[in-house]
Order: sequence, then structure tokens, then C-alpha cells
Amino acid sequence: MKMLLFGASGRTGQVVARLAQEAGWQVLTPAHAECDLADERAVVETVLGSGADVVVNSAAISGLEACLDDPLLAHRVNAMAPAAMALACRHTGARFVHLSTDYVLAGHRAGKKNEAAKCKPVSVYGESKREAELAVLEALPTAVVLRVSWICGNPQKPAFVEQTVARALAGQPLAAIADKESLPTDAEDIARVVLAMAGTKAGGIWHVCAGGEPVSWHDCAVLALQCAVEEGALAVVPAVAAQKRAEVAFFREERPRYTAMNNEKLQAMGIPMPDAAETIRRVVKRYLAYLSRK
Ligand SMILES: NC(=O)c1ccc[n+]([C@@H]2O[C@H](COP(=O)([O-])OP(=O)(O)OC[C@H]3O[C@@H](n4cnc5c(N)ncnc54)[C@H](OP(=O)(O)O)[C@@H]3O)[C@@H](O)[C@H]2O)c1
Repeated sequence: MKMLLFGASGRTGQVVARLAQEAGWQVLTPAHAECDLADERAVVETVLGSGADVVVNSAAISGLEACLDDPLLAHRVNAMAPAAMALACRHTGARFVHLSTDYVLAGHRAGKKNEAAKCKPVSVYGESKREAELAVLEALPTAVVLRVSWICGNPQKPAFVEQTVARALAGQPLAAIADKESLPTDAEDIARVVLAMAGTKAGGIWHVCAGGEPVSWHDCAVLALQCAVEEGALAVVPAVAAQKRAEVAFFREERPRYTAMNNEKLQAMGIPMPDAAETIRRVVKRYLAYLSRK
């Protein structure tokens, strides 16, 4: 089986490529320089010429401030390119798996949201990703849209969880946002879901994240540090200052407050997901093992 994977150099793409190769797939990984997603024609030609059974889009401009600074480029890369991929897949008959985000939700109300929840993104990034969801499913109703959140678990591209442990190991002061809730997703779980969904005929939107109660970044930081103590990497859990989103100078774009997703639809498909604490435990253990090998 042949997979065409966009975004293979990214945090999630690297893991998808590795797991697919381990599962015996031939994986084509066009780099940004070989196929710029801002160039719709290049996108279509790459899909049409690939002979792929499955096309996976893990590419995006995923930085909120980058999208804010260039909304037109965000629209082209995050929305028009996946729409073009979906149309090309309709032509070739390839299965299409596209990654989306919990930031398509408005996040005004607490609690976990299922796939039918109303979408009302509050950022340019979220708008571009929601536009992609609608365009992809209109072009190809059998496409699979996987909404993921707070990706971590690729030690080569440390995310918030790994960065917290790294800072603690370096004895640096720690702070984490406490007024924002979601659920983390391990990149290894995303890759596992991508491969599982590639082998089904199920289309539509799927929430792919840890189970359990919603957590803040502050909760995640404390859980990660507790795990580092259990693993013997730290002597004690250091203090983590609780921050508000409004206090973070780097944030020029709005972050929605409550975007935790309900993954029951995915679990009902027979695809299990760990809860948030277990996700963070796995991610920290993997990161510490990676550091010890370096
Ligand atoms: N990170 C999160 O916590 C998070 C949360 C929810 C949803 N998501 C979504 O999950 C998916 C994967 O996210 P990620 O964090 O793994 O992504 P990432 O690490 O930011 O990687 C993005 C990938 O997209 C590629 N890319 C960006 N612009 C491109 C362009 N114009 N042409 C071709 N390739 C381009 C990058 O290649 P270069 O580096 O070479 O440019 C890279 O391979 C994305 O759809 C993202 O929106 C992410």
C-alpha cells in the first residue's frame, strides 16, 4: 500500500511516516520545497502523480500568530490546499485523511464537545482550519477529518509537556496557563488512528484526543513533573506558577478557553485512547528515554 503524506517533517508527520513504514507502507513524503501547499496546482499534480492509495495531510501553518500575520497564506495552505487534495483524491479514488483542530470550536462553554458541537473559531488559524473541514467534506464526503488537540509525544519536536520537563531538568522557573482547558493528544496515538482510519470506509469528523476530564496546561505541567519524579529524573515536583492567557505577551491571537473534545465516537469504532494522565505519563517516559539516549 502506498501513502502520500504532506507535512512529514512536522511534529505529527514524522511519527505518521515512521509508523506507516513500520506497518509496511510505502510512504511518499514531498518536502515543502518540492510541493508548496500555497501552490494549488502543485498540490493537485502531486496527488494525481503519486499513485497513492491513501493521502494524509498533516501539513499546516499551525502557529496562531503566523496565521494572524498572513491570513491569505493561512487560507491558501490550511484551507485551499486540503480542499484541492480532496478533489484530487475524488479523481484518483484515494482515501483522504486530513488533520484538523479543537480550535475550530468557540470554546465559550465548559465541558467536552462531540463532533456535532457548533463551530465558531475565534482565530484566523481556527477559521482557516474550519474552512478546510467544510471544503474537504464537500469535495469528498468519504474523507476522514481528525480533529486533534495539544499534540505532544514526538521527542524530536518537544511540545509543551516535554518543554516543561526540559525546563525543570535545567532548573529554570516554570509557569503554565491555567485559564484554558482541553485534552492532550499523543502523536503516536494520532498516527495509530490515521492508519486505522485509512483501512476503513468511515468518513466525516472524528475527535482524536485523550479521554478523561479536561485539563489546563498548568494541570499538564504538574502531571508531567510528577511523572518525571516517579521516573527518578527529578527529586521533587518544582513549583509551577499559574498564568492567565492575557499575561502571555507572545499571544497576539486569541486562544479559545474550553475546547476539550469528547472521543467517544472514535472509541465506539473500536479505537481506544488513553486518558490525559496516561497520555502525559507515556509522553514523559518516552522523552526521558530519548534524552538518556542522546
Ligand atoms: N500542534 C498542535 O498542538 C496542534 C493542535 C491541534 C491541531 N493541530 C493540527 O495538526 C496537524 C499537524 O500539526 P503539527 O503540530 O504536527 O504540525 P507542525 O509540526 O507545525 O508541522 C507542519 C508541517 O507542515 C509543513 N508545511 C507548512 N507550510 C507548508 C507549505 N506552505 N507547503 C508545504 N508544507 C508546509 C511543514 O513543513 P516545513 O516545516 O518544511 O515548512 C511541516 O512539515 C496540523 O493540521 C495542525 O493544524 C496541531
